[in-house]
Amino acid sequence: MRSVFRAFILMGAILIFGLSVTSVYGMKAAQSDDVTAGGRLYDKWFAALNVPAPEGNHPIWERQTSNTRSGAETWRCAECHGWDYKGSAGAYAAGSHFTGFPGVITLADDLSAEEIVGHLQGSKDPSHDFSAYLDESSMKQLAAFLKDGLLDADAFIDPVTLRVRDANLKNGEKLYSSVCAACHGTDGKTIVFRSEGVDEYLGTIAARDPYRFLHRTRFGVAGTSMPIGRDMGWSNRDGADVLGYVQANFVTGAEQAQVGNAGAGSASAAPVGEPAGGVAGGILTGIAAALGTLGVSAFFLLGFVALGFVVVWVFRRRK
Ligand code: HEC
Ligand code: HEC
Repeated sequence: MRSVFRAFILMGAILIFGLSVTSVYGMKAAQSDDVTAGGRLYDKWFAALNVPAPEGNHPIWERQTSNTRSGAETWRCAECHGWDYKGSAGAYAAGSHFTGFPGVITLADDLSAEEIVGHLQGSKDPSHDFSAYLDESSMKQLAAFLKDGLLDADAFIDPVTLRVRDANLKNGEKLYSSVCAACHGTDGKTIVFRSEGVDEYLGTIAARDPYRFLHRTRFGVAGTSMPIGRDMGWSNRDGADVLGYVQANFVTGAEQAQVGNAGAGSASAAPVGEPAGGVAGGILTGIAAALGTLGVSAFFLLGFVALGFVVVWVFRRRK
């Protein structure tokens, strides 16, 4: 009986040791390989390189009028070519991100890495020349990402419901709680994102823009210390499982779909099965919260006044 018990303890110890070694190793491996580095450049190259964004709009931006963003955003590969890498043939086929610009997923297959670097130097279109901002090694990393880091989003995400297909929620939960919860909290609300003036949480982003979520789970967020799925050895399926777990369990706020509209950009972008009265509910919650805060302040104020009276009263009596 005791030896069985000891064996259990030993096995437990070995397991914990093994897990900690792999997780430390996983974090260390963050010296990104070219594909990962390219994925981060694709997200926001000026944040990844820690340089200021260029002034004004990208020169190609004036070829369209439908996407009304301006400045730094217009210089991001992802803003023109999409988080699903399909440009106007994917999630950006409509909605506020629509530009009509092409995706990179089919082209990147046909082009060699050298041709992609050439295109980033303006060989095909002088306006698509990034050589004033990106050196050759960054361009090679982008080419490596475009050649080997893309995925066909439709294999993981249903483009109509924006939900992950066949998510393994157990696997998603395991990965989320072992890595992501430390910063984002067990409900995904610890870090609050401001997106176009609206407060967002992990759950609302997972529902509204699952493609961006998946890209960032695979490659981290350029310019932050968020762990990089790819460097931890996660497969694309692992990333999708985490996304599916977040979609299924966290507050997704159906009302956000109308406000932000970044995902599919069509009416079908509203996540299925969410309550419709989200906006009214949100307003009521807001009012309730405001009243609550007022109540608490009033309580404290009264407390202070009462304390003041007591002090004055005590001093008066002493005289
Ligand atoms: C302002 C919008 C815009 C931005 C930003 C942008 N592209 Fe493009 N890209 C285009 C357009 C439009 C095309 C179609 C061909 C052309 O006119 O250049 C294109 C084409 C491409 C192609 C295909 C080349 C070919 O043979 O047709 C690749 C690869 C590419 N872009 C990669 C990138 C990468 C990597 C970045 C980020 C460093 C990026 N693009 C940033 C608009 C943009
Ligand atoms: C070390 C802390 C940390 C951990 C661990 C972490 N994150 Fe993050 N995460 C961040 C920070 C910081 C940001 C950027 C916040 C901002 O943009 O304001 C972020 C942003 C994100 C975003 C981007 C939201 C958007 O606006 O597009 C997603 C998606 C995300 N995290 C998912 C995850 C997932 C999934 C995991 C687990 C693999 C994870 N995070 C683990 C710190 C962390």
